[in-house]
Amino acid sequence: MHKKTQEITDLLIKAAEKARKETSGEPEPGLTSPINWPIDCVVGPGLEGAIACESKIGYVNGTKGWLIYRGYDIFDLCINSTYEEVSYLLLHGELPTEVQLKVYKKKLTQCFNVPETLRTLLSFSIEKMHPMAILRLGLNMLRQEFTKADQADHKPSADSSIATDADTIAMEFAPRGEEHAIFEFKKKKREEEEAAAGINSCYRLIGGAAAITAAMNRIRSGHFPIEADPELSFAANFLFMMTGKKPSVEEERIMDISLILHADHGMNASTFAAMVVASTLSDIYFSIGSGAAALSGPLHGGANEQVIHMLKEIGSVENVKPWFVKARKDKRKISGFGHRVYKAYDPRARILGPLAKHLAKQNKEFGPLFKIAKELEKEVVSSFGKEKKIFPNVDFYSGIVYHALGIPAEMFTPIFTVSRVAGWTARVNEYLENNRIFRPRAMYIGPFNKKYLNGNL
Ligand code: ACO
Repeated sequence: MHKKTQEITDLLIKAAEKARKETSGEPEPGLTSPINWPIDCVVGPGLEGAIACESKIGYVNGTKGWLIYRGYDIFDLCINSTYEEVSYLLLHGELPTEVQLKVYKKKLTQCFNVPETLRTLLSFSIEKMHPMAILRLGLNMLRQEFTKADQADHKPSADSSIATDADTIAMEFAPRGEEHAIFEFKKKKREEEEAAAGINSCYRLIGGAAAITAAMNRIRSGHFPIEADPELSFAANFLFMMTGKKPSVEEERIMDISLILHADHGMNASTFAAMVVASTLSDIYFSIGSGAAALSGPLHGGANEQVIHMLKEIGSVENVKPWFVKARKDKRKISGFGHRVYKAYDPRARILGPLAKHLAKQNKEFGPLFKIAKELEKEVVSSFGKEKKIFPNVDFYSGIVYHALGIPAEMFTPIFTVSRVAGWTARVNEYLENNRIFRPRAMYIGPFNKKYLNGNL
């Protein structure tokens, strides 16, 4: 193993040991047996405590601080695995064999090829849109490009909106430092157009979301998109397509870990949103688009972007205390802290925190921001966090890690989305095996028997 990636693995092993030690006293989990519907459960506001379905995909235990995908502990997956293996695991239930992995990797690389989607996106004023809005639009375009869900003559005509050859899009002349750059996207030979369902659509969505996200980062920074390099891993390709330069082994490993960490997380708001849409038998592209819309909010995946803005607003370690006192007085939520389920330290933050520290040591410019973050963590935990069980969540350190990799803040939530498409698609597929349309109810507390009087108008 490369020395640099070994250092990272060592950090993860240490983080895992610390997590196990600190949570060993917590009670063993309950609520993990099959359900005999209907059931009684105590439901709080925001559906807290409601059990909506059974799942074999992932498990979150908020007091133990556990995150488990298909039986594997998140620490073990981050230490030993890759995003390709983990997304395969989520979708198929088992880790891939060597042959399966090879085939899957090839498929995912093919799924980075989304020329019509990118051409159509370029016809919008995407510089004026938030990247999450562009990504959501792009996910819809993928549906048009790859499925027969609508009649062919209803498809948007991408080619009419740009002045280039029908099957090519001009690339920047020579992406920085790349001898083997590909200068144009061509529509590659592909199998029959697919139905907007099935495992191929899941692969399309995983690869397509990455390609759209990477391309928009290029376009927003004044460059043309770059095609994937079939020799690279998913994480390396994602960084390559996003930045135009091949990542170092360390950057690749860090992105890979981050993708693994964000791939699934129980019945959170965005997963539930995707599943609700799927339960109507709407297609998987629409379902995943809904997941992305839900994830974009600042109380959910959008918090990672807010964290960086907040740390910059604080500005210095000395200003942490006065800023925090005012934030509490103003009853402001501190971005990147708290979680509906975790009442112990979020295991994802346990992993990303040391990674952020590792990057801070190497990067003088970024070091001060990390120090502000650490000071803020101390302040939050000691003042009310310990008592209310509010600790850093995944979004607190992920933004800092991406920032250290040179990625703009607006791109953080789209990156989160790229990874989470694996969990959303896996859970949607699982739910559809025993589908029942979601239909909770609201308690009506309005008036009855009001008389309609013309004079009211
Ligand atoms: N800052 C200050 N106080 C907080 C915070 C916070 N970040 N989080 C929770 N609290 C307080 C609440 O004010 C509330 O206090 P009270 O009992 O005095 O009324 C108590 O802790 C419980 O919090 P709720 O908001 O009821 O918790 P809920 O489960 O509804 O919300 C949430 C969870 C949305 C994550 C919340 O903690 C929050 O807003 N955090 C900041 C945004 C954020 O980081 N979101 C990312 C979450 S991770 C993810 O989605 C990928």
